[in-house]
Amino acid sequence: MSKSTIICDTEPWKDLKAHVEDMKKTHLRELMTDTERCKSMMVEFDGIMLDYSRQCATLDTMDKLFKLAEAACLKQKITRMFNGERINITENRPVLHIALRASRDAVIHCDGKNVVPDVWQVLDKIREFSERVRSGSWLGATGKALTDVVSIGIGGSFLGPLFVHTALQTEPEAIGCARGRQLCFLANVDPIDIARNIAGLNPETTLVVVVSKTFTTAETMLNARTLREWISSALGPQAVAKHMVAVSTNLTLVEKFGIDPNNAFAFWDWVGGRYSVCSAVGVLPLSLQYGFSTVEKFLKGASSIDQHFYSAPFEENIPVLLGLLSIWNVSFHGHPARAILPYSQALEKFAPHIQQVSMESNGKGVSIDGVVLPFEAGEIDFGEPGTNGQHSFYQLIHQGRVIPCDFIGVVKSQQPVYLKGEVVSNHDELMSNFFAQPDALAYGKMPEQLRNENVTENLIPHKTFSGNRPSFSLLLPSLNAYNIGQLLAIYEHRVAVQGFIWGINSFDQWGVELGKSLASQVRKQLSASREKGEPVKGFNFSTTTLLTKYLEASAD
Ligand code: F6P
Repeated sequence: MSKSTIICDTEPWKDLKAHVEDMKKTHLRELMTDTERCKSMMVEFDGIMLDYSRQCATLDTMDKLFKLAEAACLKQKITRMFNGERINITENRPVLHIALRASRDAVIHCDGKNVVPDVWQVLDKIREFSERVRSGSWLGATGKALTDVVSIGIGGSFLGPLFVHTALQTEPEAIGCARGRQLCFLANVDPIDIARNIAGLNPETTLVVVVSKTFTTAETMLNARTLREWISSALGPQAVAKHMVAVSTNLTLVEKFGIDPNNAFAFWDWVGGRYSVCSAVGVLPLSLQYGFSTVEKFLKGASSIDQHFYSAPFEENIPVLLGLLSIWNVSFHGHPARAILPYSQALEKFAPHIQQVSMESNGKGVSIDGVVLPFEAGEIDFGEPGTNGQHSFYQLIHQGRVIPCDFIGVVKSQQPVYLKGEVVSNHDELMSNFFAQPDALAYGKMPEQLRNENVTENLIPHKTFSGNRPSFSLLLPSLNAYNIGQLLAIYEHRVAVQGFIWGINSFDQWGVELGKSLASQVRKQLSASREKGEPVKGFNFSTTTLLTKYLEASAD
């Protein structure tokens, strides 16, 4: 494909456009009767099983999607990413989050330099620091052990670590490692978030970790200043050195803020914010809570998927299969959304994290060469753990719009419960739903079945399920640190596959800038009005009226 060719102009894309019309005539009910097809649509790697037989696709569809991957130069693009080439061209940066979880002896070059020793230098520093804090050899200003950690950060400096923390919170081994310790996250600049986070915390026993790639993000910096004040007003300004550390790529600004550079943990501009959970962004707070060795297992799980993604043939490659079939659903079937449905409460923060990874990466309107896309890229991600979601939005998924679903199940529960007298364990009860929902979506329920059940005619339209609704089933052996790392990397790479096929830059995020600069104009106006009584000016009628009302009503 030449540089300026848009993927929708290629033969494989056009072929898939024609093919989808045929596929729309075939119901999943019919496709599911072909056992050979279903057998071919199951893959397993390192304990993880992906079943994509409930996609509205045949083996012929898969061949066509592999041809599309070829036309998009998917293999070459993956290789360029792993080779540290500057594939994020609008920011002139490599995309090397895979280096963050590479083994100590791996060699990954960026601008001719092996970056793995730098990665491990920071990991070793985190290991040493977290052990000192956890063992009580690093004490607070008043000589007390620092048992509580507040991690301040937003977006990629928050969502990934929160997801992993939430997933580990009930994991038996991790529980043992976290005994007597507390980790919380302060993200929103909303003073309510501050109040909720510091309620019950004692500055004497609290360590604050300021996490910001740029160290300029307005919300994070204001929250950091607020907690610096909270510490120094309680313990004196000299206490900041013992109670505040930082994670950033901008060590100059860290020092300017007043944090000792020795207490700063670096990462690099080749790590995108939303891909930074395996850097000090996630590794530091998680190691403080669970110990470095737990976090190391998480990194190993992610690394295992990195190797698989890099080297497995596309026919067996879990992130590639997920990515290609998502393209099939979005760009050919025209389904713009995707539901992420983990049947594990421990994964309750997975969908919010993937929302950023996916939507900030692929929510783009132009190709990587700057050409306006003649099709819509990206998808709308949302989700809730099962079975909670079933009692919320599943009605729409079953009888309203078609939303492709990712069902994520776990074989062994982190916290198994078996009540005497119950037919199945609580986990079996949960998993019964995990297994039933994909079939309910795929097969539906026809009027004839309802008539056989003596349903009255007036209710038949209401009780009919059209079916033919696609889903993936992803089955994990358990939910320990290693598996959590695997799950993260599968989704990160799936998003990259989609971006590579659509031909967009999945690694920049210019779309978040406009709102930030308009907020800065409003901020200036608010301070000029409050401090000097200046009237609101320079905004449209609507904003002027709202701002004036806000200023008047909040004046006293
Ligand atoms: O506003 C979006 C964003 O730039 C994200 O991409 C990033 O994860 C987040 O803000 C936080 O940025 P930083 O880590 O630089 O504070």
